[in-house]
Amino acid sequence: MRIPGLIDPHVHMREPGGEHKEDWNTGTSAALAGGVTLVMAMPNTKPPVTDTVTLKAALAAASSKARCDFAGYAGAGAGNTSTVAGLAPYTAGLKMYLDQTFGDLKLNDMGDWLAHFQNWPASSPLCVHAEGPSLATAILLAELTNRPVHLCHISLRSEILLIKAAKQKDIPVTCEVTPHHLFLSQDDIPVIGPGRSEVRPRLAGRADVQALWDNLAYIDCFATDHAPHTLAEKDGENPPPGFPGLESALPLYLTAVAEGRLTLDDILLRCVTNPRRIFHLPEQADTYVEIDPSARWTFSAAHTYTRCDWSPFEGYKMTGRVMAVTLHGKTVYSDGQVLASPGYGRNVRPPLT
Ligand code: NCD
Ligand code: ZN
Repeated sequence: MRIPGLIDPHVHMREPGGEHKEDWNTGTSAALAGGVTLVMAMPNTKPPVTDTVTLKAALAAASSKARCDFAGYAGAGAGNTSTVAGLAPYTAGLKMYLDQTFGDLKLNDMGDWLAHFQNWPASSPLCVHAEGPSLATAILLAELTNRPVHLCHISLRSEILLIKAAKQKDIPVTCEVTPHHLFLSQDDIPVIGPGRSEVRPRLAGRADVQALWDNLAYIDCFATDHAPHTLAEKDGENPPPGFPGLESALPLYLTAVAEGRLTLDDILLRCVTNPRRIFHLPEQADTYVEIDPSARWTFSAAHTYTRCDWSPFEGYKMTGRVMAVTLHGKTVYSDGQVLASPGYGRNVRPPLT
């Protein structure tokens, strides 16, 4: 069965500065193996992407190494409230961190939050990491500045209910949920292990997970938040938060289809149609994914392309598999092999020269 290439609006490719975890080559190989043909990369690299020089460096690495299409976010900082908007046309959008997570991009001053909401062009995506009360503030700022805001990785019942209420008031908010917040809860922490289970937002309670499923109608996108860290780091002293997700996401969604919990249309709406509209992305010509929706197999990180070499879904029994991927008319993945060369992927935004 043939479906369009998936779009993932939230991945961490780790380059520059974290290449021991992932780089544009391994990360986009993982994307293709997962049926994803367009990734949008977050700016919490080392150094973070906050200005022309750092954006150019990130995009240069992507252009030479990416095997699937891509765009890169700029990060909102305390020092770039009046300048970063100039980069908008060349980015996936602006990413604002209102709560603490991996990296140094957390914005502490609410005045800076407001400035970024006001200054970033309404025609370009603004994505916000906001949990609990910060989420309420982000929704208020969307209303006050009358601009669209995309709320990243929603995980709690209280959050999805707030988003539902905001949408019913026509406040211009959209949101995404990750596969790990749909398919894992705090109950899985003993199995996965405490360090490996670290992720932001944290794995939630079962009632929260159920609330996400019950309110699927208000979830605009599925996004992996593919956030690879090595096993040594995850099992070490200060485990960094984040899960790999690109290679397990579509199999998990297809398994949910086999179980009657999702439809294929549910997936395509949230992984293709909605992200394309919300993030103003071009259609990818001659691009599709061949899936076998009834293939039964066991997921193992040993057979993945991500450099991080582990998965919270290790040993999961999947129904539904990516068999082949065609990108711009060329077979780029088939029989478990990535066939696209590094650099085959295209930046979907205009080049920053
Ligand atoms: C992400 C990372 O490792 O970059 N970690 C995570 O737990 N999700 C950062 C983020 O998206 O919050
Ligand atoms: Zn993230």
